Formats: sequence, C-alpha cells, structure tokens
Amino acid sequence: MWKINDFDMKNRKEDCADIITDSLRIINEREKSGKHSNFYHWNFIPQIPNQFIRRYTKKWDYVLDMFIWSWTTAIECEKLWRNVIWVDLNKDLTNRLETLIDWKIDKFFVCWDSTKKSTVKKIQDHLKTKKRNFIDLVLLHPPYFDIIKFSDKKEDLSNANSVNDFLDMFGKVLENCKTLVKKWWYIWIVIGDKYQNSERIPLWFMCMQKAQEIWFKLKSIIVKNMEWNRWKMWVWWIRRYRALSADYYIFKHEYIFLLKK
Ligand SMILES: C[S@@+](CC[C@H](N)C(=O)[O-])C[C@H]1O[C@@H](n2cnc3c(N)ncnc32)[C@H](O)[C@@H]1O
Repeated sequence: MWKINDFDMKNRKEDCADIITDSLRIINEREKSGKHSNFYHWNFIPQIPNQFIRRYTKKWDYVLDMFIWSWTTAIECEKLWRNVIWVDLNKDLTNRLETLIDWKIDKFFVCWDSTKKSTVKKIQDHLKTKKRNFIDLVLLHPPYFDIIKFSDKKEDLSNANSVNDFLDMFGKVLENCKTLVKKWWYIWIVIGDKYQNSERIPLWFMCMQKAQEIWFKLKSIIVKNMEWNRWKMWVWWIRRYRALSADYYIFKHEYIFLLKK
C-alpha cells in the first residue's frame, strides 16, 4: 500500500504514538489550546480532525471541509501545515476565518451551498491555480438534521423539510465530494442521531448507507463519546430520571465513519 501520511514507521519514531487505532473513542477533555475557542458550540472536538489529518494526509496536502462553522478544521490544518479549503453558508462566521488562519498555508473559502455543482467548480478552479487536480481528504460534520438550526436559509441542511429531504441534500454534498477527492482517497463523516415523535432516528446509519450508495467503500466505523464535564453530569441525572420513567436508553455517543473513494 502507498504511503498516506508522514509517519516514520521504519525508524519507529514516536510521531504517531498518540494516534488512536481502536474503534471506540472516549475523549475526556476538549483540546482548548491555541486558536480554538469555546465560543461556538456544536463544533468538532479538535482532537478529531487532528488525528484524521495526521493519519490520512501529508504536509501540504489539501483538506476540504464542506461545513466549516467555527474554525476547527482550518486551525488544525494550519497547525499541521496542510492546505485547507472550506465551505459554509454562513458568511458572518466564516469571514473571521480569513484573518484567523495564517497565509503560511493555502487557504480558500467558498461561502456557498455545499450541495451545488457550482461549489465544485469554484474549488476546482482554485485547485487549478495551485496546479492540483484533487482534494486529498474530506471531513464532513453536517447538521444533525434539524436538532440545531444554523440559519434561516432554505439551502441549510438543518432546514430540510423531512429526514428524506435531509438525506437527499446530504447525498448531493457527497456527490460533490466524490468529484473532488482523489481516487482511492478518503472522506470522514461525523454525525449523531436524533429523537423524533418518541422514536430514535438513526441518522448516522442513513447517512452511511447514502455514502455507500454513492460509491464510497466503508472502511471503519468509530463510536465516539465526549466524557464528563460538570454540566454533562448534571444533565445526565435529569436524563436518567426521564429515561427510567419512560422506555428508552440515553444516547451519549456519536458516530464517525471512514469511507474510501
Ligand atoms: C455541525 S456544523 C459544523 C461544525 C464544524 N465541524 C466545526 O467544528 O465548527 C454544520 C455547519 O453546516 C453549515 N451548513 C448547513 N447546510 C449547508 C449547506 N447547504 N452548505 C454549506 N454549509 C451548510 C451550517 O451553516 C453550519 O455551519
């Protein structure tokens, strides 16, 4: 197999000592150092993009995030000397990234709809100016359907009319990623489930099936849980009380899955 990262396996260097290779990932504390901020919620725990970027790309490779929200993926790319392209509908938020991320890496921001073919064209045009044809790694952290509304825009996946509409929109994003990512290369998707009308909707499973339909090969499924902080502990007691008074289990974890083009 060809080399997909910069780890020095031959000399058994410790540059990958902290890389987790198990499928259960319990994270005790969010990385807060450097440019990461707790201001925006519902973002990646920085350790997630950090581990994937180090394991699946090399220095100067291109990482694409189609739902950037706060600056997590871009900050990690800057830290690790990877070029980054990010997309989001939310211009106010992503404008800040322009000044936050240093020009030492190539950074390109598309304030547009990730489901649109025109987004692909903008990215391809940019890559051409850098004499590149493809993206090396895609990280996707879409809204978990309508659990949190990110905007009032109809193009926003969090405003989809139904689970099926949400999946159709997500499918279009996946098609776009398939066009952009290099053959045999990788896409990571992070997503959790939701409850609706007293029923658990396995969004992660539906999204995974969508990705497999769109001709990505499933390589791994990771179950991830962010462990206790004081707030979570307090909320947990209330949730436990509600669950015991009803008929369901509390879901704490989210899913991350790795697919290969
Ligand atoms: C869960 S957040 C991503 C969090 C991100 N990983 C982080 O660490 O901050 C989802 C983002 O998707 C964006 N979004 C939703 N629908 C979109 C679309 N059609 N095109 C582009 N961005 C979209 C929202 O504006 C929101 O910023």
